[in-house]
Amino acid sequence: MSYKSSIIVDIKKNIGTISPNIYGHFTEHLGRLVYDGIWVGLDSDIPNINGIRKDIIEALKVINPPIVRWPGGCFADDYHWRDGIGPRDERPRTVNIHWNSIETNEFGTHEFLEFCKLIGAEPYICCNVGSSTPREMREWLEYLNYDGNSDLAKLRAKNGHPEPFNIHYWGIGNENWGCGGMMSPKYYAYQYKKFAAFAHSFTDQELYKIACGPPAYHYPWTRGFFRNLCENKIIGCPWRLPLVNGFALHYYVETERLATEFSEKQWYETLQKARKMEGYIKWHTRIMRYFDKKRTVDFIIDEWGTWHKVEENTEEKWLYQQNTINDALVAAITLDIFNKHADKVSMANIAQTVNVLQALILTKDSKMLLTPTYHVYDLYSSHQGAESLKMKIKTTKKNKIPLLSGSCSRKEDVLTVTLVNSHAKKPIKTKFKIKGTKDYIIQSWKILNSEEIHDHNTFEQPNRVAPVKREPQIENLVLPPASVNLIQFKVK
Ligand code: AHR
Repeated sequence: MSYKSSIIVDIKKNIGTISPNIYGHFTEHLGRLVYDGIWVGLDSDIPNINGIRKDIIEALKVINPPIVRWPGGCFADDYHWRDGIGPRDERPRTVNIHWNSIETNEFGTHEFLEFCKLIGAEPYICCNVGSSTPREMREWLEYLNYDGNSDLAKLRAKNGHPEPFNIHYWGIGNENWGCGGMMSPKYYAYQYKKFAAFAHSFTDQELYKIACGPPAYHYPWTRGFFRNLCENKIIGCPWRLPLVNGFALHYYVETERLATEFSEKQWYETLQKARKMEGYIKWHTRIMRYFDKKRTVDFIIDEWGTWHKVEENTEEKWLYQQNTINDALVAAITLDIFNKHADKVSMANIAQTVNVLQALILTKDSKMLLTPTYHVYDLYSSHQGAESLKMKIKTTKKNKIPLLSGSCSRKEDVLTVTLVNSHAKKPIKTKFKIKGTKDYIIQSWKILNSEEIHDHNTFEQPNRVAPVKREPQIENLVLPPASVNLIQFKVK
């Protein structure tokens, strides 16, 4: 028996442009992400470009990564940028206090920016507020962006980059309510204003400054931050918030089980938690708009993804976890929510790119594999920069979640529909209608699913979970159980 549903896409109802930055990434100095996952060094036997793994560059290029956040995470508020510039063999060895490791500082500012250039992504740097000063931050900006005859610009040239980097996205601290300094929203708002006032761009363009938001469930932080930001009447609140461009929330789908060991009940519990993202977006943006009537501040989710229990007795380092078809559905459900709220969400960065949490890629020495989550990013990439369209779905619920969900967008004559069947075992049969035109033809259908809900890719079987093509058809559409679907049309 298959469940019945219906879908109506309204081609005339435009929600807004899907910011490509919704498909952003996050790379922290944590576990085997930077060292091993991205950076292997110039002398490594693993093929690399100036020390950066070639296989990772090639894989990431395919999914058009728009933006990468760095160096943390918690690491950001303990990072001193000067440790990561100059001749590599002279850089200090420091202790990564959050993730308990030695930081060789081999991967610093220049290496990160080369990585971004190689994969075609915009850099988003998060500066140290918790254990640093506005002065240190301002000097980093001068080093990065100043195109004149200052000592710091000359130092950048000496270190191999005479042209300014023109960094635009600038995070002012990370989780400053926790690992970034244990601040109250009021205290952080004051710190934020002080740092933001000195966050000079050194270019013709203003910096895009991003403030630290709360963990998703914590509405008082959002209220407290904006209230205290507006306290100083000289900057004209609540009508104008000139110091903030983006406000960034973090939301993890935390589970009490291993990535690959879960019951059917836990399969649904995980997906149910993923769906909570929608409510968090609605409520936090509502609070923001109370203070920011003119909608000058963008809403961002700069860390999100699954966070499973870590295996005991593993040789693996911090926060390494496998990635099953269940994680793929979490990614797809979340990206569909972002697409549907294209008028509210400006950027989102999945945590994290390689070997940490909901990674897109896993590596082991010279081997690497693409996780089911990577394949979702590949399937969804044509939503980037497209117009999000209204899509009405009628469906059945199971374990409190609607079984069918999705989103739809249009770029020129390409209509992209992504659909998730959350049922662990049963297919969904659905009617499908496009309202507003009769002039369309279905062009392709790709499916990501697997035989069993615990399926994942291993170094022995790297393609166990990978997308397959189906004969495109729209009459009596039957979506396989536990599947992510990409259906594309040509429309006039
Ligand atoms: O992504 C791992 C950690 O999760 C980050 O360092 C921190 O910001 C968050 O708590």
